[in-house]
Amino acid sequence: MTERRLVLVTGAARRLGRAIALELATHGWNVAVHYRRSQADAHDTVAALRAAGAQAEAFAADLADEAQCEALLPQVVQRMGRLSALVNNASLFEHDDVTSLRYDTLARHWRSNAAPAIVLARALHRHRTQGGWDGSDGCVVNLLDEKLFNPNPDHLSYTLSKAALHAATPLLARALAPALRVCGVAPGLTLEGPQIDARRLAALKAQGPLGHGVEARDVAHAVRFVLDNPALTGSTLLVDAGSHLQPRTRDFAFTDSHGLTP
Ligand SMILES: NC(=O)c1ccc[n+]([C@@H]2O[C@H](COP(=O)([O-])OP(=O)(O)OC[C@H]3O[C@@H](n4cnc5c(N)ncnc54)[C@H](OP(=O)(O)O)[C@@H]3O)[C@@H](O)[C@H]2O)c1
Repeated sequence: MTERRLVLVTGAARRLGRAIALELATHGWNVAVHYRRSQADAHDTVAALRAAGAQAEAFAADLADEAQCEALLPQVVQRMGRLSALVNNASLFEHDDVTSLRYDTLARHWRSNAAPAIVLARALHRHRTQGGWDGSDGCVVNLLDEKLFNPNPDHLSYTLSKAALHAATPLLARALAPALRVCGVAPGLTLEGPQIDARRLAALKAQGPLGHGVEARDVAHAVRFVLDNPALTGSTLLVDAGSHLQPRTRDFAFTDSHGLTP
């Protein structure tokens, strides 16, 4: 039997992060569950991962705080041991556009969505090369967004922060090779949000090119595929049921159930 490897998943208490953590736990990984505010959900996720046979622990950090971000990976290593992989899933998602953009909104998205992912990748590389790299596979997966491949003017600060992370993906892949691979996974609309309830989500998904949308398990499966495939680095996998093939003038949140801008 192969030994379980350890992965850190950020923002893993709820939603897609939890689905990714569960997918990995059921396929041979131990999981460090990072959260910021969702402590009860994080402990619930840890219990579910342990029930699936994995070792799991919860770690709190506000990744927008540089000191907390820098401290996270050493804490994981101290409590759980050697770390093989990192899934940069945590993300801030607030609306703005060219009219409402402020330095502050832009900076907050950058501090949550781009800078921590790079700092954590650097920390993982440092950890894995300390005392000499042992030749084993290590990987970082950055959660991006289909929006990057099908631009519309909504969520401007969010989109710019994800564009920075998308650009950073091949740069880091080059800089951190051979000890680390760095890839992106870009989901399409997957889960409900403040402006999209379950009914609307189902209607929007049904309008896609495939007549169905993306489920959390599809995104989680893609992350596992990237972690398992030693030939992938610097590339991004779109997991969107083809929605980037359908140009939109506004974000899903601002189109009606027929895909039209009201
Ligand atoms: N959901 C979708 O349909 C969709 C579509 C395209 C792309 N994506 C991408 O997929 C990933 C997961 O999506 P999601 O909808 O599941 O994410 P989400 O619910 O919007 O956010 C995930 C977690 O990020 C954490 N977080 C936010 N800011 C943080 C900070 N400064 N420090 C630490 N943690 C922070 C929060 O943790 P706490 O709750 O613990 O505070 C939150 O639960 C994201 O990267 C997103 O951009 C999602």
